[in-house]
Amino acid sequence: MYIEIRTLSEKFGKFFLTATLLLSFTLAHSQDENVEPAAEETTEETASEGGGSDELIQVGVTVYEENCTQCHRFNSVVVGPALKDAHTRWSSKEELLHFIQYPQKVIDGGENAHAKELYDQYKQYMPNHDFLSDNELEGLYAFIVAESTNPFHEVEKAEETLASADGSGTGGAGTGVSEEFLMVIIVILIVILLSIIVALTLLMGLMKRFVDSRDDISEEEREYISPGFNLVAMLRSKPFVNTVVLLFVLFALKSGIDGLYSVGIQQGYAPTQPINFSHKLHAGMYEIECQYCHTGVTKSKNANIPSANICMNCHNSVKVASPEIQKIYAAVEKNRPIEWVRVHNLPDLAYFNHSQHVAVGELECQTCHGPVEEMEVIQQYSPLTMGWCVNCHRETLVKAEGNEYYDKLMEFHDGENAGMTVEDIGGLECSKCHY
Ligand code: HEC
Ligand code: HEC
Ligand code: HEC
Ligand code: HEC
Ligand code: HEC
Ligand code: HEC
Repeated sequence: MYIEIRTLSEKFGKFFLTATLLLSFTLAHSQDENVEPAAEETTEETASEGGGSDELIQVGVTVYEENCTQCHRFNSVVVGPALKDAHTRWSSKEELLHFIQYPQKVIDGGENAHAKELYDQYKQYMPNHDFLSDNELEGLYAFIVAESTNPFHEVEKAEETLASADGSGTGGAGTGVSEEFLMVIIVILIVILLSIIVALTLLMGLMKRFVDSRDDISEEEREYISPGFNLVAMLRSKPFVNTVVLLFVLFALKSGIDGLYSVGIQQGYAPTQPINFSHKLHAGMYEIECQYCHTGVTKSKNANIPSANICMNCHNSVKVASPEIQKIYAAVEKNRPIEWVRVHNLPDLAYFNHSQHVAVGELECQTCHGPVEEMEVIQQYSPLTMGWCVNCHRETLVKAEGNEYYDKLMEFHDGENAGMTVEDIGGLECSKCHY
């Protein structure tokens, strides 16, 4: 009997060590991944599944980054729908590619029910992409299929964001996923380890009592049994202490590195506001224009937060009895502004102008602020780092056609915008953004 108890406790010790080592290995490995995304591997896999060659997919990636990312992501709604599995929502490749080229024609044609549904939902036409070549269209299709079945592009993007030293990035989906997954694995492992400890302790107690109740075991044998199971000694043993220390150091290192990358970045910041004001309700359900409340957005540097008087246009008759609305009344009566907590906050050294982007650049609010009309509580959607501003200026074409601000410039270009980005009009000059 005592032999069995000994082997059991030895086995337990070994198992515990293996499990902790496994745990620390998972942790260490996850760090490697962050530093060196295994780009080539994944792309190859995707190509074989997605039915397009690497080259073709690469063409698609380029077209997508140049023409589509201001409105689309794969896993989230931006201005247009999430593109994941888009190919499955159309009856054929030709139909989908035709839609991408001539969305308005397809929608207005009224024969395609899915296109009509999309329009009813998004209430705006996607611009025509009739300038894309057949090869570029094929590339887009291959990329959509590949990214849907085996995402590589946006995951890579997120990893680049993590790895790039200036903390730049375009913001958006993907960053948190692998981390959450890792946490789940760790928690599961810890739970398993703890339950094993509990089960074994119970079992040991039981067996010990059984042994104690027998009188055919000699004193010598008894002595041999008790040190066989000594939890305290095991917890104090060198290998155990070492693994715990190792784990602790790895954890500290990881959170330290994560912390460094996000110093000063408040992406996702969503403070509690003094009044439970919902954009989802006002801008989403009731479709009140952003400009109705943010009156400065097309005319000046600042978008403005609406004064209580603007709320009163409606709330002197809507939901008057609600305690939240009563707070608006109180503010008006005391002639004191509502103390909204500011969400977005560029440092003073940077200059950002809304009308430049919204009126002249013709950008949608959602490009920078995300799907505000779905937010119950408003939050900071983009990182607002210098890298974020600069990246967009490198990638975005100036909307010069039919834009009176550019009439002069266009005369030199025969009325066509041959790939002129914000960078080309001086959007990367330090003095444009810094006082
Ligand atoms: C200015 C914003 C905008 C740009 C740029 C844009 N789209 Fe769209 N896209 C939309 C909107 C809005 C819809 C919804 C349909 C509609 O109302 O026209 C849409 C719909 C789609 C759909 C259908 C999705 C589905 O669920 O079936 C696909 C596919 C698509 N876009 C692909 C692209 C591609 C590829 C590009 C780049 C070449 C692109 N879009 C560029 C706004 C845009
Ligand atoms: C009915 C009025 C109203 C409408 C319509 C409205 N907003 Fe707002 N918005 C507010 C108020 C009030 C606040 C401040 C309270 C808060 O943060 O929730 C605010 C805050 C914001 C902020 C954060 C400001 C900060 O502190 O940094 C953004 C960004 C924003 N709105 C964008 C939008 C966009 C985009 C739309 C259109 C889709 C929109 N809003 C429509 C009233 C409105
Ligand atoms: C254009 C009209 C309009 C404007 C302007 C407007 N609201 Fe509203 N608001 C509504 C409507 C409609 C409802 C929904 C009432 C209902 O649920 O029956 C609502 C609901 C609310 C609610 C939820 C009340 C509750 O108890 O359910 C709050 C809080 C609120 N609004 C705050 C504000 C604030 C703050 C402003 C000013 C920044 C504002 N609203 C401006 C139309 C407006
Ligand atoms: C090119 C990106 C971009 C676009 C497009 C954009 N914003 Fe902003 N928005 C910002 C930045 C950056 C800030 C932070 C400004 C600061 O702190 O000085 C901001 C701040 C705000 C604020 C806080 C108050 C203020 O003026 O600083 C509101 C409200 C707001 N935006 C609303 C809107 C609305 C409504 C639209 C669309 C009509 C819009 N924004 C379009 C980037 C953008
Ligand atoms: C989503 C893309 C986008 C983002 C993000 C963005 N911008 Fe811009 N920006 C533009 C476009 C497009 C224009 C060109 C507008 C025009 O036609 O003049 C522009 C123009 C400008 C200009 C004028 C440049 C010139 O040469 O006249 C300044 C200054 C500027 N942006 C500052 C910023 C700052 C600061 C940020 C970050 C806080 C920022 N932008 C983020 C798209 C963006
Ligand atoms: C398109 C706009 C834009 C351009 C162009 C730009 N910056 Fe910036 N810069 C910003 C913004 C926005 C911030 C604030 C970002 C933050 O707090 O993370 C910033 C921050 C900085 C900071 C402070 C960094 C810190 O950690 O506080 C320095 C230094 C700086 N920029 C230098 C430059 C220099 C030098 C150039 C020219 C080569 C330049 N910037 C061009 C937008 C720009």
